[in-house]
Amino acid sequence: MKILVAITGASGARYAQRLLDQLDPREHEVHVVLSHYAPAVLAQELPGGLRLRDGVQAHGLRSMNAPFASGSNPPDAMVVIPCTMGTLGRIAHGLSDDVLLRAADVTLKERKKLILVPRETPINLVHLKNFELLLLAGATILPANPTFYTNPQTIDQVVDTVVARVLDHLGVPQRLVERWGEEAE
Ligand SMILES: Cc1cc2nc3c(=O)[nH]c(=O)nc-3n(C[C@H](O)[C@H](O)[C@H](O)COP(=O)(O)O)c2cc1C
Repeated sequence: MKILVAITGASGARYAQRLLDQLDPREHEVHVVLSHYAPAVLAQELPGGLRLRDGVQAHGLRSMNAPFASGSNPPDAMVVIPCTMGTLGRIAHGLSDDVLLRAADVTLKERKKLILVPRETPINLVHLKNFELLLLAGATILPANPTFYTNPQTIDQVVDTVVARVLDHLGVPQRLVERWGEEAE
C-alpha cells in the first residue's frame, strides 16, 4: 500500500510516532508530511524529534511535486494524525493550498481511504458540522480516544489503543493491543 501520514499541530504527536513505528517501509510505501504548525507541537511533545524509519519519504508542505498532489497518483490511504480542528475544517471545505490539504482532497475525490484522527475537547457546533461533512464525503473520523479495558500501564500502551484502531482501518495487521474476547498470548 501507498500510505501518507500527515501530522498537524494538535496535541498527540506520540500517536503519529507510534503509527510510523508500526508501518514497515519494506512492506508499504510510506510518505510523511507535516502541517505548518506541527513542528512546534512536535518539539514540545517529542523532545527527541520525530523518528522516521529508513525508507520513509518526507515531503515539504509547499511543494506540489509530491506524487499524491495529483489525482493520477493518489495514496491508497491517508491518515491525518493527530488532526487539528483547523486542518479538519480546511479539508471539510475543500481548501487545498498546501500539499497536505491537496492530498486529503485528492484522497477523497479518488475514493481512497481518508482517516482523520481529531484531538480536541470539548467540541463546538462548527467541529461537529465539519465531522458531518467529512463523513458524508467518505472520510473515517477516528477520534484520539484511548481505551482502558486492557489496563495499559505506560503512555505508549495508552497511545497504542488508538494506533491499533488506525491500523485496523488501514488494513495493516496489528498485535499492539489485545482484542476484546481474544485470549492473551
Ligand atoms: C501545545 C499546543 C497544543 C495544541 N493542541 C491542539 C489540539 O489538540 N487540537 C487542535 O485542534 N488544536 C490544537 N492546537 C492549536 C493548533 O496547533 C493551531 O490551531 C494551529 O494553527 C493548527 O495548524 P495546523 O492545522 O496547520 O496544524 C494546539 C496548539 C498548541 C500550541
